[in-house]
Amino acid sequence: MFWMTAALCVIQVWFEKPDMGENSDVNDIEGRKNGFQSFEHAAADIVLAASFNSSGTRIVLCSADHKIRVYNIDEDNEYFLVDQWRGHDAEVLDVQWLASSLGQFFATIGGDNKFKLWREDPSQAFKSGRRFRCIFSQSPLNHVSYVSFGSKTIRHDLFLSLITHDGLLSLLEPADPESLSSWNVIDNIYPFGQHHRGTEARFRLSFHQGEGPSTNAVFAGLDPNAISLAVSAIEHIKIYRAVKSGEPSESNYLFYEMIEIQTDATINEIAWAPGCLHPYDIIAAACNDGTIRIFEVNTPHEVDASLRTPAVKAYKPNGPRRALPATMRNAPSGIGAGLADMSRNAPPREVMNSLNIKHEWKQAALLSHDEAPVWRIRWIYDGSALASTGDDGKVHLWKQSLSGDYVDFAETEPV
Ligand SMILES: *[C@@H]1O[C@H](CO)[C@@H](O)[C@H](O)[C@H]1NC(C)=O
Repeated sequence: MFWMTAALCVIQVWFEKPDMGENSDVNDIEGRKNGFQSFEHAAADIVLAASFNSSGTRIVLCSADHKIRVYNIDEDNEYFLVDQWRGHDAEVLDVQWLASSLGQFFATIGGDNKFKLWREDPSQAFKSGRRFRCIFSQSPLNHVSYVSFGSKTIRHDLFLSLITHDGLLSLLEPADPESLSSWNVIDNIYPFGQHHRGTEARFRLSFHQGEGPSTNAVFAGLDPNAISLAVSAIEHIKIYRAVKSGEPSESNYLFYEMIEIQTDATINEIAWAPGCLHPYDIIAAACNDGTIRIFEVNTPHEVDASLRTPAVKAYKPNGPRRALPATMRNAPSGIGAGLADMSRNAPPREVMNSLNIKHEWKQAALLSHDEAPVWRIRWIYDGSALASTGDDGKVHLWKQSLSGDYVDFAETEPV
């Protein structure tokens, strides 16, 4: 099961894995609604986000009633409540399971300006309100709420990225990988300059999930251990690659801006397609004008570029970076010109372009969502299909056909 939409008291879950092979008929109207199942949850208020664990047998919901709820799903697709508890002192805005060999973990952000990590404590009974313990809690240095976060695992290393309402992006790694109860900030930037309070830039971020960067990017000289991250604000998406600088023994990643994608619609969410279906990268943007835009990002390169010494070696590191000083205005920040209503006085970062990998982008598809704002998108089946939901009250599943077009192959009724 992969995708849900949240109405006030119903979650719709896509269960069956449809036949994604060559014989599947995307025009099969009868088959369109098959595979979705509804379940009623106990939240007293709107569910703002939900996340399945990687085996799909457990779902965590977070809602405006300040609570977090975890359900197990048995073989008959029945849901039963594992626990519910007050997770934040405000609405719980987002939740994600984290891939970890250390047991069951997930992360939340709340309207109380907190980011929290939760770990299951099997010694506590189901429905005790104590089955999940908060093992880490952090507030932004700049006292502005977090609006989006993501996680990325490279082999056994787990990274987190958080962005605040004013656009401060940070990359974190565990200080103690055994417990995950303390984290170090390894880089901090304002990708679009510092955003003024009061206005809404809708910052979103999405890591590229996969074993390594796309094959073309590696051929173009990108370090195979690079972390790839997309960050959006208003109508812009910036693509970053984070690579280790300095000695191999130091785990010290720095963000490098590669390219900026510009569109003409306000972006509500972005999703970098996982997997390796294509040698280039694909990023989808859910837009407020009722469209989903699919962007291809490629790295044109000469044939022998992969034989070069990795580009990062040629670059002299600045030394380790620390957490931001108390005066955020003087923080290292702002690559390139900010957006119109964003601060322009932040100095550009000197390391810009030092990776020397050319990136280019194009819009590969424009999908229509009945003119209603699209709020959530998620790649499924390793990136061969995209699920979306928005103000039209439906969940759509899009699949790329052999001709390269994206076809709306399943949708639910509005709830
Ligand atoms: C997902 O949750 C179920 C139910 O608790 C558990 O049995 C399973 O191991 C979990 N999967 C992962 C990958 O943690």
